[in-house]
Amino acid sequence: MLEAENRTALQLSRRMRRLRRSETIRGMVRETSLSANDFIYPMFVVTGQDVRQEIGSMPGQYHLSVDQMAREAAELRELGVPAVLLFGLPGYKDAVGSSGYDANGIVQNAVRALKDADPDLLVITDVCLCEYTDHGHCGVLDDSGNVLNDPSVELLVQQALSHAEAGAEIVAPSDMMDGRVGAIRAALDATSLTDTAILAYAAKFASAYYGPFREAANSAPAQGDRRGYQLDPANAREALAEIALDIEEGADIVMVKPALPYLDIIRRARDRFDQPLAAYNVSGEYAMIKAAAQRGWLDEERVIPETLIAIKRAGADLILTYHAKEMARWLRAR
Ligand code: PBG
Ligand code: ZN
Repeated sequence: MLEAENRTALQLSRRMRRLRRSETIRGMVRETSLSANDFIYPMFVVTGQDVRQEIGSMPGQYHLSVDQMAREAAELRELGVPAVLLFGLPGYKDAVGSSGYDANGIVQNAVRALKDADPDLLVITDVCLCEYTDHGHCGVLDDSGNVLNDPSVELLVQQALSHAEAGAEIVAPSDMMDGRVGAIRAALDATSLTDTAILAYAAKFASAYYGPFREAANSAPAQGDRRGYQLDPANAREALAEIALDIEEGADIVMVKPALPYLDIIRRARDRFDQPLAAYNVSGEYAMIKAAAQRGWLDEERVIPETLIAIKRAGADLILTYHAKEMARWLRAR
């Protein structure tokens, strides 16, 4: 009886709404915050001059030629966004993605131009074969169309080396071949590129949320899908095993991708590992918000901050997001 009375008294004294009464007090007890410094902005670089072409499936995102990209990067830095992630749309493709490791390839040229224009901009490059292969898979194929692991790793290593030689501070393998982080680390260390870091797409799921990106990067597989190398959406323990392996192999930062459907993985990775953790708020997550906002069904100025804070609250230190620019602008205006 006494215990029941005490509980009632406690509940009364613990009225939760007292700390929600004003924006001032809400701001003081807020547990998680966003900063422009948390963001990495993905960009798509194309050949040519003066190209700034909107991507149909991703309103507000553009295919940019190298010159336009430098302008965009300056604007980002002005807003406090420290880093970009580069994807290349090469002039030609072949079965082994050889344009991916061309010293004068599209990404290599973009890296040099961006670093020339602003040495303090952090440049990260996506390392994968799918943007450069004519078949659109993230690795090379055997005669029956299977993606071969070790030959793919060799090509990924060459691509990572050429990005690092061009001046990328961080290389980000997104292919999901086994052993590629260790192989890239060993190759970098063997060529005095020991300071180049690796951001591993460690827990990358076979997701339909990459749909809009396939148009952006022109990298849809001609045949089949990526379920033979990317993670099954049903598997959390396997995702943690992938992350553990990449850390063992030398990943400096590990990533979970996509973000919103995998917030549980982000949380479990944060609880288990001490490495910096990134989450990729992918093209489909972006497109859903933009499409609804265009119809007036969602208020994007509220939905975007809510979405990004959820990713941060789940445990991500860094967020790769197409919203980086608009969010940084809103953070500044606050
Ligand atoms: C290529 C790659 C993809 C994304 C990043 N790197 C697509 C894929 O694996 O099919 C997706 C990014 C996005 O959807 O925003 N390996
Ligand atoms: Zn790929």
